Amino acid sequence: MSIHIGAKKGEIAETVLLPGDPLRAKWIAETYLKDVKCYNKVRNMFGYTGTYKGKRISVQGTGMGVPSISIYAHELINDYNVKNLIRVGSAGSYQKSVKLRDIVIAMAASSTSGINQARFQGADFAPTANFGLFQKAIELAKEKGIEVKAGNVLTSDEFYADEFESYQKWSKFGVLCVEMETSGLYTLAAKHNVNALSLLTISDSLVTGEKTSTEERETTFSEMVEIALELGEN
Ligand code: ADE
Repeated sequence: MSIHIGAKKGEIAETVLLPGDPLRAKWIAETYLKDVKCYNKVRNMFGYTGTYKGKRISVQGTGMGVPSISIYAHELINDYNVKNLIRVGSAGSYQKSVKLRDIVIAMAASSTSGINQARFQGADFAPTANFGLFQKAIELAKEKGIEVKAGNVLTSDEFYADEFESYQKWSKFGVLCVEMETSGLYTLAAKHNVNALSLLTISDSLVTGEKTSTEERETTFSEMVEIALELGEN
């Protein structure tokens, strides 16, 4: 086992879906996977391996924020040889045209996290999606008749920004939405030469102040998860 994951070598598949919420990991495993085994209960950050359409796949909760997802991504890659890391999460819209329940695929992730500034000594690093996974996700969405948007997202270190801070500068520069993990995931995938992609559903809007209900979140989450599960079939 690694420090934060209790699986034995070989118990985690090459492709792993990464919801922030460990109970979402449980729900995905119970709803979509066959022959499921729970391989991790450390800190209640549940992880499962099973099969989807005959292919082995895992799903691992990551917690919230760049520090937390970075721990799980690092250990999955370095201790368990994971090659495809697919975040399935939620985000807040920064654009009028990005509506509640829309699915956004993160092509790149800007960030307020200081980790890459320290890592690159003040220079910018542009964390980007893996092109192969990105292209396949777009094709799968088309085949399924699911509309998706794609572009730059903001990975923020704060869910509750100060009242006097504004999202509008990011919005003006074309950033589609805000979440809290993608730049960390894309950076570690680049560092270790593996593949990563973030699929996000819009759960709230900074523009209109609207929020989705729990029930609505489940429906859109399902569409996104179905795209993500099929990405493992490469
Ligand atoms: N995830 C979902 N909505 C969010 C928001 N408004 N800010 C940061 N992360 C989020």
